[in-house]
Amino acid sequence: MMINLTGKLCRLREFHRADVPSIAFHANNKQVWRNLRDVFPHPYGQADARAWVKFNMECKGRPNNLAIEVAGEFAGCVGITPRPDVHRLSAEIGYWLGEAFWGRGIATEALGLMTDHIFATRDFVRLEAGVFEWNPGSFRVLEKNGYRLEGRHAKAVFKDAELADLVIYARLRPGIE
Ligand SMILES: CC(C)(COP(=O)(O)OP(=O)(O)OC[C@H]1O[C@@H](n2cnc3c(N)ncnc32)[C@H](O)[C@@H]1OP(=O)(O)O)[C@@H](O)C(=O)NCCC(=O)NCCS
Repeated sequence: MMINLTGKLCRLREFHRADVPSIAFHANNKQVWRNLRDVFPHPYGQADARAWVKFNMECKGRPNNLAIEVAGEFAGCVGITPRPDVHRLSAEIGYWLGEAFWGRGIATEALGLMTDHIFATRDFVRLEAGVFEWNPGSFRVLEKNGYRLEGRHAKAVFKDAELADLVIYARLRPGIE
């Protein structure tokens, strides 16, 4: 079954091959990369986008990552990474948006749609996010979706040649608290 989660500003859907050029265009941006793990390439080329789409098309049926689409255009990505072992009922949630789409409430809506979708369709009891200390926009996106500030991992991150605290937010499955 195709996933289509529709909001007022954006919709979330699975990735397809036609997304490759737009992913490469919007992902190839240091302002995006600076707020993500180094596993997210920089520079970000067509081959990186092709690999990402292929990876996500292989887990069809129960995708962990969805494309954020705005007015029919690829705009960004929101996804989960399930945690292993005793953390298996937790997943990390992450998102990025092409810079052209920032400042319109789109990430807030996309995170809300994804959070509801994951709790409705999967067994996770906890969704968590680690945000670099210089990213207050992302703190707001999480706060506006009911994620709670749990603490800071002091100097846990070395990104873009800088040491930074990792700020931890989490939201629990409704009814668990
Ligand atoms: C962070 C990011 C997802 C935000 O997306 P967005 O669609 O612009 O966010 P929204 O418009 O939904 O909301 C942003 C909120 O943060 C606030 N904000 C933005 N920049 C801010 C800043 N520098 N300081 C304080 N607040 C800020 C906005 O005012 C808004 O809050 P408000 O509604 O209370 O006014 C986007 O900038 C992005 O993709 N950045 C690069 C990747 C990234 O950081 N991913 C998250 C990793 S944890």
